[in-house]
Amino acid sequence: MKLRRLGQSMNLKGKRVLIRIDGNVPIEKGRAVDGPHGRIARSAVDVNWLSQRGAKVIVMTHVGRPQGRRIWAYSVKPVAKRLSGLLGMPVAVARSVVGKDVEKLVENMGNGDVIFLENLRFDQREEENAPSLAEALAKLGDLYVNDAFAVSHRAHASVDAITSFLPSYAGPLLATEISVLAKLEERVKRPFVLVLGGLKMSTKFPIIERFLPQLDRLVVGGALANVFLVSQGKRVGKSVYEEESVDSAKRLLKKYAKKILLPSDVVCVHSLRRDAKQEVKNVDEIGVNDRIVDLGPQTRKLFTRTLEGSKMILWNGPLGYCEIAEFCAGTQEIARAIAAQTGKATTIVGGGDTLPVIESLHLADTFTLLSTGGGALLQFLSGESLPGIEALKL
Ligand code: 3PG
Repeated sequence: MKLRRLGQSMNLKGKRVLIRIDGNVPIEKGRAVDGPHGRIARSAVDVNWLSQRGAKVIVMTHVGRPQGRRIWAYSVKPVAKRLSGLLGMPVAVARSVVGKDVEKLVENMGNGDVIFLENLRFDQREEENAPSLAEALAKLGDLYVNDAFAVSHRAHASVDAITSFLPSYAGPLLATEISVLAKLEERVKRPFVLVLGGLKMSTKFPIIERFLPQLDRLVVGGALANVFLVSQGKRVGKSVYEEESVDSAKRLLKKYAKKILLPSDVVCVHSLRRDAKQEVKNVDEIGVNDRIVDLGPQTRKLFTRTLEGSKMILWNGPLGYCEIAEFCAGTQEIARAIAAQTGKATTIVGGGDTLPVIESLHLADTFTLLSTGGGALLQFLSGESLPGIEALKL
């Protein structure tokens, strides 16, 4: 796959470069959770590269899903602070996404300066892929760089529509991810196991459906497993699940019963506190006040055995409530089991909420590929095209 790439020989001095990164990382107590292999850390390398070449670097990202509303908890400020720390230079944050204030801020930039626009999803036109927003963003720059593989599956204004208004290039991080993934996609090895957890269920179902014919096993945990359990008529008490995904889960189970592996036992608590009493229960015994927060011991063994026999493993999303470390033991055990397979199997791991778990275990260098992408990674490997990548093809 050939993409228009930023070349070493391009003269970027004094050029206003709009770079789309994926700085969508968990924010805890106002701090961006991002280790040395995190999304911001990896994007910082390319922002620094542009700044060192004398470009005026205007960084764009989304954080969370504020759905067109200005919600303070989703401000890019913690992301900008992390970037600023990594670059060792100040990074100003614009008060909004586009508009007069932002234009003024850009006018005052010197060569090598870096600024951040506010959360793109504060403007509802972002997710609508609206040309009016793309044009307003394009006015701020001379060229556009997409370095956000993780959001390239979204036809959004800062990913897709903007490429009609500015000369557009793939950033180094994006180009590297695509070239490694394209090679892996050509060499699928069997048995191929997809391990899926995390939230964002409704967006995962269409991808799962496309993927299942190519898979030998789909191993499911976390909130995603709860939907499947509910679709089997089981009770999940107060556990998180998405009602609108239950029918899709039922349909998939009917068609692919032999391929889908669900938890048989789980860890339950009555409150989401780190000191809450944990109880292991069979999935047929969940009470009305129970919340499923982790995989049970039998399930961990079953999942690990499945992984041991595989030749290709793709993992996205925590398999328990990893926001609280005490509920992350099952996910950690599976992370270690996947890491241990590297070499015997091709191991591909990704997702904004998966990366912090891997980093906390110091496993980041032990996989065949640690991708910044979650949904984008699944979509790419399922053979679907990604709008953000299509727009950069030569
Ligand atoms: C991700 O975390 O996978 C990307 O940042 C995309 O986020 P989205 O699923 O909210 O579009």
